[in-house]
Amino acid sequence: MCGIFAYLNYQVPRTRKEILETLVKGLQRLEYRGYDSAGVAVDGPKNNKDNNNNSITLIKKRGKVKNLDEELYKKDSDLDLDAVLGTHFGLAHTRWATHGEPSAVNCHPHRSDKDNEFVVVHNGIITNYKELKKYLNSKGYEFESETDTEVIPKLTKYVYDNRERDTISFSTLVERVIQQLEGAFALVFKSRHFPGEAVATRRGSPLLIGVRSESELSAEHIPIQYNSAPYYSVLRDHPGTPQGAEGLMGPTEPTALFKEGVQEKNIHNRPDAVGGGKAVEYYFASDASAIIEHTNKVLYMEDDDVAIVTNGKLSIHRLNRQAGEDPVRLIKTLQMELQQIMKGNFEAFMQKEIFEQPESVVNTMRGRIVFDTDTVVLGGLKDHLKEIKRCRRLIMIGCGTSFHAAVATRQILEELTELPVMVELASDFLDRNTPVFRDDVCFFISQSGETADTLMALRYCKERGALTVGITNTVGSSISRDTDCGVHINAGPEIGVASTKAYTSQFVSLVMFGLMVSEDRVSLQKRRGEIIQGLKDLPELIKKVLALDNKIKAIADELYEQRSLLVMGRGFNYATCLEGALKIKEITYMHSEGILAGELKHGPLALIDKHMPVIMIIMRDACYQKCQNALEQVTARSGRPIILCCQDDVEITKNAYKTIELPHTVDCLQGILSVIPLQLMSFHLAVLRGYDVDCPRNLAKSVTVE
Ligand code: AGP
Repeated sequence: MCGIFAYLNYQVPRTRKEILETLVKGLQRLEYRGYDSAGVAVDGPKNNKDNNNNSITLIKKRGKVKNLDEELYKKDSDLDLDAVLGTHFGLAHTRWATHGEPSAVNCHPHRSDKDNEFVVVHNGIITNYKELKKYLNSKGYEFESETDTEVIPKLTKYVYDNRERDTISFSTLVERVIQQLEGAFALVFKSRHFPGEAVATRRGSPLLIGVRSESELSAEHIPIQYNSAPYYSVLRDHPGTPQGAEGLMGPTEPTALFKEGVQEKNIHNRPDAVGGGKAVEYYFASDASAIIEHTNKVLYMEDDDVAIVTNGKLSIHRLNRQAGEDPVRLIKTLQMELQQIMKGNFEAFMQKEIFEQPESVVNTMRGRIVFDTDTVVLGGLKDHLKEIKRCRRLIMIGCGTSFHAAVATRQILEELTELPVMVELASDFLDRNTPVFRDDVCFFISQSGETADTLMALRYCKERGALTVGITNTVGSSISRDTDCGVHINAGPEIGVASTKAYTSQFVSLVMFGLMVSEDRVSLQKRRGEIIQGLKDLPELIKKVLALDNKIKAIADELYEQRSLLVMGRGFNYATCLEGALKIKEITYMHSEGILAGELKHGPLALIDKHMPVIMIIMRDACYQKCQNALEQVTARSGRPIILCCQDDVEITKNAYKTIELPHTVDCLQGILSVIPLQLMSFHLAVLRGYDVDCPRNLAKSVTVE
């Protein structure tokens, strides 16, 4: 999805070239999210005609960030790259097309007018953009792109052009603009009317601010400044306008806080802003991975926060204080290392992340399992354990790979919790208006913690009074903040669009949940002990599977020109089939289907002949015999199956075209080992087919639109 990065240097001299390099580097860190065009906005060079012109230059390019970077150097002579700028604010953005095709004109930053008075970068979707556009059109504002975003800078200029007084602060302008917007957004604004100032805001899309300063930060937390202003409306008859609110130009009686002189003084002389007017740098980003190389001091913005930097001071504003609202924002320390988001010696992030799994599963378990006493404590859930044990049912909700983690662990959770467990794709769950009750416990599984469908399902369940549990990999994400309790899977940053290590860590987290809930069930102690031993041995067994990489590559060499690939299994390994097939289709663009072996004779068997590549997963568990039956049905139709089986399974090897022999573990954890060959297989197939493994076409890492 789209990525935002913006950089403000206050009394920290930087050449324009250095500033552009910082912006481009920020975008490169966000490339993994998926995008189709990229752009920047920086102050233009002062020219002789108009020495104080405060102009803004926009440079936008379809395609990769590399194309944008090349374009910047072509502009060398126009841009005066060596000019030193003591204070400057620059914006950058990677766009993933939703409204309008990928093109330079649809790419961000978007502008208010030909003079670039206001420029904006935006993540999310503005759902009422058509009404706003019509209104602005009627006022003579001309649009140049097909995007929803463009209404934002135009609206900002409209509010600015129609201000009641000569002066209006940048933050007040933005506060008024966001009152008109419906949908989801993270926004960063720059304006030639407010040189060296930055304004950022969000609703439903993540945004964080990094702070770097040589001197001590003046505050570790920032009290919010509340402006108790009346509702401001641009569209008189707009359905969102509360009854009795003024149309067109907002409040007829501006409150004291809208009397700009008063407000300006209040904001900028407050001791509770960060920065204190000393040399300082600020980094605005939709994702911590773009900030971490500059600073680990960050502030996560909340919905409807308006952050402003003026004279180097950062302060946070909100319109009206709601009951129970936290009146401060903390400057937190990011627990992430730059090297965690670097590729190292690997060809792709996905490959690196596959090979990190021996460590990432350890990090998921660290401090949570005491192997000597068979105890499991998930700190984020322990206070809710009683409520969970009393519930009517567990509902696990996610999308894509995160949904597969729910499928993979459903059976063991049913066994350990003795509760009914439903697994739900978030979009389908919402489409069905699924009944949810106060005594349900709903799990929201999401690597990014920002997936729109999963977030909507979370809101739906909250409204119905269910206890909500987040299983996410992203600290500070919307799902981790909006759920009642949860588990951070601690897999470390996952950059490749194809999720790998997050899946195995979600899997381990959910198994740990089952173990925690069943701690006092006498009849389950033996089973619990086996699983806990299995978890202890897991990292070593994963290493053994990874050692099969060359063998898997050799099989990929045979398969990469095929058009289709079926993956079959059942029981604990059915989820592996779904997940393996998803990995293959998303990065190799081959058709692939995960098939429940029990369904074979109900249709898929018709696909089988000697030409159709089939991977079968047949492990020594309760479904072994049934899987052997499926194998016979396949070989009887001249199928040539490649079989993932347990080491030294002579019986299976006899009937296989090829085998990949895996170490054996307890049945409910076998899926963690059996998915890894398919992760590796999809990686090799994609490389052999010549595709960009980390950024597959049409896909994004974090799907923040419905
Ligand atoms: C996984 O390889 C996919 N890219 C995708 O299915 C992903 O798992 C899905 O979009 C959900 O994302 P989330 O875990 O961040 O919510």
